[in-house]
Amino acid sequence: MKTKVDQNFDNLSERFRKNIYNTPKGQIRLNVLWRDLIEQIPAIESGGLSILDAGAGQGNFALQLAQKNHQLTLCDLSIKMLQDAQALFAEHKLEQGVHFIHSPVQELSEHIETQYDIVLFHAVLEWLAEPEETLRQLLTFIKPGGYLSLMFYSRSGLIYQNLTNGNFDNILNNSLSGEGKSLTPTNPQDPQDVYQWLNNFKLNTVLKSGVRVFYDGISRERRKQINEEQLFELEKRFSRIEPYCSLARYVHVLCQKQGK
Ligand SMILES: C[S@@+](CC[C@H](N)C(=O)[O-])C[C@H]1O[C@@H](n2cnc3c(N)ncnc32)[C@H](O)[C@@H]1O
Repeated sequence: MKTKVDQNFDNLSERFRKNIYNTPKGQIRLNVLWRDLIEQIPAIESGGLSILDAGAGQGNFALQLAQKNHQLTLCDLSIKMLQDAQALFAEHKLEQGVHFIHSPVQELSEHIETQYDIVLFHAVLEWLAEPEETLRQLLTFIKPGGYLSLMFYSRSGLIYQNLTNGNFDNILNNSLSGEGKSLTPTNPQDPQDVYQWLNNFKLNTVLKSGVRVFYDGISRERRKQINEEQLFELEKRFSRIEPYCSLARYVHVLCQKQGK
């Protein structure tokens, strides 16, 4: 069934914090994103870039960027998530000069006129009713020659997990979307569709990485025994290698806008 509205995280903020960031899953995500950005945009390490984090949530990734002295703007549909982000920045004494905008991406032009060196859109696409159109609107905020860092929840990864877990009914009934109250996305995206949109938007794809290539397939019992350093190392190693990349839970695509 088609998602009718974008998912506001006001009622999911507490579970999101517990379930994602304080876990190896969150650490894998941060490791892969950070590695990808540094590799392609060395100025990420030295600071001074203007960065829009669209659907920034609780600001965990943006905080790392603020620690490198970039100029940050965070926007989110959820006031609760945005307040959590503000509190996180305040806790680290990094809120000075940061713009927090309570707005859906679709209405951002009512708040900002500027364009950014980098626009982040991490784990938002799969919660939207109109992902392609919303992405198209977001691109107007990237400077010519600037970057889009897009990470989305992969429908292919979800199908593979349901198959290997023996959840055949979910596949046969095409029941792969979460309900509004769960942390399973309401609109998982087929990577091939997203690549096609990016192509149509005339963005140059610079790199693609899988995020959580195999971790979710390890049983809960076994997870308690694994060496986390090895886990992080191997997740990074296989993130760019096919077929592993395409079966990951998320795909990170870094694209560059033409021009300059
Ligand atoms: C899964 S969270 C991801 C948060 C953050 N980007 C991260 O990676 O941790 C998705 C976020 O997108 C926000 N969101 C959903 N639809 C949106 C929209 N149309 N405009 C802006 N934010 C939106 C939600 O409120 C939520 O905070």
